[in-house]
Amino acid sequence: MNYNNAKQRIKQMLTEKIDDTLQQVVNFLQKNFESYSWVGIYLIKNNMLHLGPWQGPQATEHTKIPIGQGICGAAAKTGKTEIVSDVHADDRYLSCFISTRSEIVVPIKQNDTIIGEIDIDSDTPDAFTEKDDQFLKEIADMLSEHIHNQ
Ligand code: SME
Repeated sequence: MNYNNAKQRIKQMLTEKIDDTLQQVVNFLQKNFESYSWVGIYLIKNNMLHLGPWQGPQATEHTKIPIGQGICGAAAKTGKTEIVSDVHADDRYLSCFISTRSEIVVPIKQNDTIIGEIDIDSDTPDAFTEKDDQFLKEIADMLSEHIHNQ
């Protein structure tokens, strides 16, 4: 799907302000972007990442991740996007699914505070580019505003 169409559609979902909005957004991303095999949102509570809504073929065992651990914990610590083109070549990687080959984690921020992140696993090697980073940062900002207004 085209990034601009996706932004428009997600913006509409977020203005509806219904309880399962975040679930709808992860469902939408997973369904409409072929390389987005598993899409989840982690939120930070008590210095720990807690898995919120997710969509994909399987559940992950990693429903709680300490800040600093794994690719997810690294992005939560630095506030910077992590793009891992080959998860098996990254020592930090916490394995969730046997089929995963690459991963992107984009922090969700409120002002300068990191409140969570979007985590996407792909079954395609080297699936993520700067364009995904830019797109998902914009989605993260929309989600941040939505969470703030809840
Ligand atoms: N691979 C992540 C853990 C979360 S799962 O991908 C859903 C990591 O290394 O932090």
